[in-house]
Amino acid sequence: MKVALLQGGRSHERAVSLRSGARVNEALGELGHTVESLDLGPELVSRLRDFSPDVAFVALHGPEGEDGTVQALLELLGIPHTGPGVSACRRCMDKSLAKYLMREAGLPTPDWVTYSEQALRDFGAAETFPVAVERIGLPLVAKPAAQGSSLGVNVVTAAEELPSALISALSYGSSAVLEAWVSGRELAVSVLADRVLPIVEAVPKDSNTFDFEARYEIGGASFTCPAELEQSEAAEVNRVALAAYRALGCSGFSRVDLILAADGPQLLEVNAIPGMTETSLFPQAAEAAGIDFVAMVERILSLAA
Ligand SMILES: Nc1ncnc2c1ncn2[C@@H]1O[C@H](COP(=O)(O)OP(=O)(O)O)[C@@H](O)[C@H]1O
Ligand SMILES: [Mg+2]
Repeated sequence: MKVALLQGGRSHERAVSLRSGARVNEALGELGHTVESLDLGPELVSRLRDFSPDVAFVALHGPEGEDGTVQALLELLGIPHTGPGVSACRRCMDKSLAKYLMREAGLPTPDWVTYSEQALRDFGAAETFPVAVERIGLPLVAKPAAQGSSLGVNVVTAAEELPSALISALSYGSSAVLEAWVSGRELAVSVLADRVLPIVEAVPKDSNTFDFEARYEIGGASFTCPAELEQSEAAEVNRVALAAYRALGCSGFSRVDLILAADGPQLLEVNAIPGMTETSLFPQAAEAAGIDFVAMVERILSLAA
């Protein structure tokens, strides 16, 4: 098959995407496909037209690549692509929208408040900070509504820290989420073809948060897969994760991030296009299910809509 491999992009996760893409490229080669690597730029559409691929493998993360922008173009061009479609991408990319949808589906997600740059700048929204802190409680987590890889995520332990944490989150995009901090075990449930793969537990080494460095520096975090969980705990984690994947309309593959607190799982987000780097969680989960990286890539490709 002729496969257009979309990688790179212009988001803050460009470097991660290039690493995902390099691995995927190698696997596609091993599978005997004819691959053309494409980055996002003014020639994207013309290069797609010239190459006329049978399928596009989308290995992009963050805004533009994971938020439905590229997917909408591919759909217009009639090119089947891997990963979720436009609407699911849009729901997943906006953490606040995703949380509303998960809550409406009766799924557990920590309490939160969303602030947009406009509301803060034009409507005096900062006056509502005390109400927000009272509603969510402390500590809380401030994070960009549309970003990944833990970029711009800060824990706020005192109300005075809120404005600067919010400003830092808003430096990544026009809206930010303040969310109740959940103490517990950090788990990721990978879903492939509507079925859950073994749960990965991520244990950060020296930090309170599973931050960017811990995630991408080898040795910065340790992972256990399958996570050591009671059978009933694992069943509940898988149940809510799969329900979240469905509530957001995902298809093909995705990864659900959550924290297992003492009173059960709390959903953080669903990644429409999970990372595929050497240290990424989705390939680790596939591996634990007996699906090696090359087989995983072939499976994802065969699911392309
Ligand atoms: N409400 C929360 N409670 C505790 N830790 C959190 C919370 N929200 C985020 N974190 C930490 O920050 C990391 C990144 O947050 P997440 O919502 O998954 O965004 P992303 O992975 O897109 O940056 C999580 O993996 C977790 O370690
Ligand atoms: Mg996450």
